[in-house]
Formats: sequence, C-alpha cells, structure tokens
Amino acid sequence: MLGNVLVASALVGTALAQSSAAFTPLAAKKFDYNNLPYQADSDDGVRGRQLGYNRCNSTTENQDSLCQTAIINSIDDFCFWAPPRPNETVGDIEGEMVAWCTKEGHGTRIIPEGALQGVQFIQTPHYVQVVGYIDQVKIDLMADDYGGEMDPHGADQRGNPLGGLLFSTAFGGNSTTTGTVGGQQYQQFCLKACDPSYENGWAMCEHIFDRIGCKYNAPSDWSKINGTFEACKGDDQLYPGQYVEGGVTRTYTQPPESLGVITTIPYEPFTPSSSQCTPYTSSRIYTAGRQLAVSTSSAASSTRTSGASSSQASQTSASGSSRASAAASSASGSAGAQGAAQSGTPQSGALEGFKVAGGLVAVVAGLLGAVAAL
Ligand SMILES: *[C@@H]1O[C@H](CO)[C@@H](O)[C@H](O)[C@H]1NC(C)=O
Ligand SMILES: *[C@@H]1O[C@H](CO)[C@@H](O)[C@H](O)[C@H]1NC(C)=O
Ligand SMILES: *[C@@H]1O[C@H](CO)[C@@H](O)[C@H](O)[C@H]1NC(C)=O
Ligand SMILES: *[C@@H]1O[C@H](CO)[C@@H](O)[C@H](O)[C@H]1NC(C)=O
Repeated sequence: MLGNVLVASALVGTALAQSSAAFTPLAAKKFDYNNLPYQADSDDGVRGRQLGYNRCNSTTENQDSLCQTAIINSIDDFCFWAPPRPNETVGDIEGEMVAWCTKEGHGTRIIPEGALQGVQFIQTPHYVQVVGYIDQVKIDLMADDYGGEMDPHGADQRGNPLGGLLFSTAFGGNSTTTGTVGGQQYQQFCLKACDPSYENGWAMCEHIFDRIGCKYNAPSDWSKINGTFEACKGDDQLYPGQYVEGGVTRTYTQPPESLGVITTIPYEPFTPSSSQCTPYTSSRIYTAGRQLAVSTSSAASSTRTSGASSSQASQTSASGSSRASAAASSASGSAGAQGAAQSGTPQSGALEGFKVAGGLVAVVAGLLGAVAAL
C-alpha cells in the first residue's frame, strides 16, 4: 500500500474559536492512510463528538457503516458523503455525514445500484474531479433536499463531517496533493481533490462558495453527463469564484445568508475542455452496488413463495458476485483517496481543500450544498 499523509488545506475563515489551547484544526492535521486513528477529531466542542470513525475495515463495511474516511481515485473508485440515517436534511446533519463508496475495500457503505445515473471523472494537471447525477433517495437523502457542502473546515474548524477525511492516489505514488472540494446538490454531486504539491491547490479547491453549487464549484458539461459514464483528461478550471470579463479576471463575492436567497450570479463558469474520454457501462464498473442489490433481493426472495422471481434473483446473483470479487481484488491493490460526499440542501454548500502527500492523500472532505434554483 502507499503511504499517505493527509495535509489539510489552508484554513479559510474561522468563526468559533475553540477554547482548548490544544485544539488543532482538522485541516491542519496530517494522517497516514495506513495508520489512521480511530477518530480524526479528538475534540468535544459545541457540536459534540465525531459521530463515526476513520479506522475502517472489513468489519465496518456494511450499509450501517459510520466510516468517515473517503476516497477519490477513479471513476469506479470514489466515495461521497451522505447521511448516516434517512429522513433528515443535510443542512441539519452535515457534521455527521458518512462515506458511501462505489466499491468494496474501504470499510464503508456501498452506493446502491441505480443511485449513480451519470458520472464523469476527470483528471487535470492539478486536480481530480468527479461529478454526476444521482437518485438521491437511494443514498438516504430526502427527495427534495438540496444538499450541502462538506469540507474540512466549518465554523469550528472540526470539518463537515466532523473528522471526515478524504484520500487519493491520483497524484502519483509519492507526490503531494493539496486541496479538495466536494459537494452535493439536488440530484447532482461534485467532488474535487487538488494536488497537494500544487502551491495554488488551496485556491483551485477553494470552498467558500458553498451556496452556488456544483455548477460554479466544479464546472462541467452538465447537460451531457446524465445517462453517461466516462473518465477523461482535461485542462484546469479557473479557481472557483473567478471569471474573466472584458479581459479582466474578477472574483465573485458570495453574499451572506442574511441577505437572503441568491437570485443572480454575474457570470457563467468557464468549463475547460476535456479529452481522451473513455466511456463505461455503469453495470460493469459499479459491481459493488449490483452485488448489494442482488444480496438484498435474494434475501427478500427467500421469504417469497414465487419460484420464478427467486430463480431469476439467484442467476443474477451468480454473475454479480463473480464480478464483485474481481473488483474487490483490484481494489485491494489500489490506494485510495477519498473525497467528500455530498448531500443536498440549497443553502448549505461548502467545498474543501486538502493536501495529499504520498500515494494516498488524506483530505478532509466536505459537502457542497447547492441552490437549486441556480
Ligand atoms: C476495524 O474498525 C473498527 C472501527 O474503527 C475498529 O474498532 C476495529 O478495531 C478494527 N479492526 C481491526 C482488526 O483493525
Ligand atoms: C421517513 O419519513 C416518511 C414520511 O414522514 C415516513 O413515511 C417514513 O417511514 C420515514 N422513514 C424512516 C426510515 O423513518
Ligand atoms: C515512492 O517512494 C518509495 C520509497 O522511497 C519508493 O520505493 C518508490 O519507488 C517511490 N514510488 C514512486 C512512484 O516514485
Ligand atoms: C437523470 O436521468 C435519470 C434517468 O433518465 C432521470 O430519472 C433523472 O431525472 C435525470 N436527472 C436530472 C436532474 O435531470
């Protein structure tokens, strides 16, 4: 396995000062992916204790997992943050989000079959990004939830979720990576992890534009992504919030929530070109979700009396499990970085920046909330 060091990104805006002199902001802590503490957050401030844990393994790999260590490696190996329990709004539980991943091997929940409706993974000179469309009720988001942004900061610098970490192997065996941004919004998600060795990684993964969603924080060809699955190379985006007007580079200022809903934004985000795109079929790459569906349906069919449906289920199960085991073995050979998950509520979004060093980069992930109306 690769050795990983997690370096959190620069801190942006602190609100609540922690009273403890010993307090270290989550983003300033470093972690070794292969030797993670049980909980990255050892504090007990106004938001209480970290809900879950960062030491995740085969015994924590189930749909009740409270693993809060996420990865962003490739189109078939990434995680996002989603709720630990259904029927709650992300804005209310962003400190408690847990990792949901595309494949086994990370000790997390698995993103159920059909939840990912379209995905684009892109690697550029300075970051990796995964964006897509989701059937959000399948990841325990409420149907009308507009999500939120998860990041390693938060007003109290303990991160959202508290103690949430994100790692990646995308930046090369021993390279350092910096910065990550991740978020979810209504029916969409986005996650970006910046190369920790890039001096402006914190800016590329800036996460202060948490109210304007994936469109502005992870510019992509959104209109072409639903229903498709592809991995591409691409050019860098402008830093979040930056735009060029009349040849002059400007930076957007996000108004405070006290001024109400954001109704206008003075620019359209620049979407860089992508190339070398490889198309995939979701059923071939998201085998863990498929296996989960099969095991759930075989459990259900065993209690049914219909022979026809149960034999269909068991056939599917055979092919699903052989694929899943192939996926599992390849997963064990790869280092993973995790990204932030997303959730959706229009007003709370946040991106995070992380630094990654070594093979796996640990990042504190955050959720990005988006405003649906934008
Ligand atoms: C697996 O992870 C759980 C939760 O972090 C931890 O309590 C347990 O000790 C771990 N098991 C091993 C063998 O590391
Ligand atoms: C979620 O809320 C709906 C509507 O109130 C209710 O019907 C459903 O049983 C709830 N689900 C859970 C898991 O609590
Ligand atoms: C990373 O560093 C290790 C230890 O120094 C070395 O063995 C390995 O070859 C390096 N990998 C790369 C890709 O440079
Ligand atoms: C994405 O595609 C799925 C399947 O066609 C569709 O149900 C869903 O509404 C689409 N999402 C959006 C946001 O258009």
